Amino acid sequence: MFDKYNRNINYLRISVTDKCNLRCSYCMPIGGVNLISHKEILSFEEIYNVVSVGTKLGIDKVRITGGEPLVRKGIVELVGMLSSIPAITDLSMTTNGALLDRFSKPLAKAGLDRVNVSLDTMDASKFKEITRTGELSDTLKGIEAARNAGLYPIKVNCVVKESPLEPDALGVGRFCMEQGLQVRYIKEMDLGKGIFSKVIGGEGGDCIKCNRLRLTADGKIKPCLFSNLAYDIRELGTKDALSLAIGNKPESGSLNTENRFSNIGG
Ligand code: 5AD
Ligand code: SF4
Repeated sequence: MFDKYNRNINYLRISVTDKCNLRCSYCMPIGGVNLISHKEILSFEEIYNVVSVGTKLGIDKVRITGGEPLVRKGIVELVGMLSSIPAITDLSMTTNGALLDRFSKPLAKAGLDRVNVSLDTMDASKFKEITRTGELSDTLKGIEAARNAGLYPIKVNCVVKESPLEPDALGVGRFCMEQGLQVRYIKEMDLGKGIFSKVIGGEGGDCIKCNRLRLTADGKIKPCLFSNLAYDIRELGTKDALSLAIGNKPESGSLNTENRFSNIGG
């Protein structure tokens, strides 16, 4: 469906959990965050319903995010449910890759098309410093497994402070070139301060072309990452929440003081 600014809204990003097995310094405090309570988290049936209703409004592209989507129990089953919806022609996942070694094959079998993996440095000790609980080798094994499972094209998300010419970013760029992976550089953002910019090598952050809606793990449709607008599917009903989000999608982003990356999925 087209919004007021003539953008064709066809892409839904679904946060399936606000939990994560890592604690990236730019995303989460070391102790984790106030987690959404179990009863607020959408069930697989509710998520399926949102996608299914979404397809009637023109959604044909879905990305599963988190937190870390692979820590949500039963995630392979959810992928199977969503991939069975014929109108969805592109089903992808954004993951930190730590569990991809175990999950790539089952995910591919369940119908996942492709993955984006977050990787900010090729230096093992720096990786530990950034992610606090992660191991570079796990993410690299995960990428290899994704390749073996055919989850193409594999894209790498690399968060940079200022520029893709920083040493860590160059290292990741070199690795991606050698491995035939597409790299996208994301400048570190601050939702609350409204600091964001276009993703270098990707599509995010370009308001004029933005075709996205987001579904939070507790059931709110958000028309923009950098706005507090949110439409609760349980209060409004799925169809109205989706229609309101499309109808009120802001021309460009401003501030989001209510969400963190860990519950809206970046
Ligand atoms: N700025 C930019 N990107 C971020 N991500 C998480 N927090 C931030 C932030 N503050 C990214 C992760 C991942 C994606 C889901 O969001 O690195 O690639
Ligand atoms: Fe987890 Fe991704 Fe946040 Fe890192 S950036 S803590 S991997 S959700």
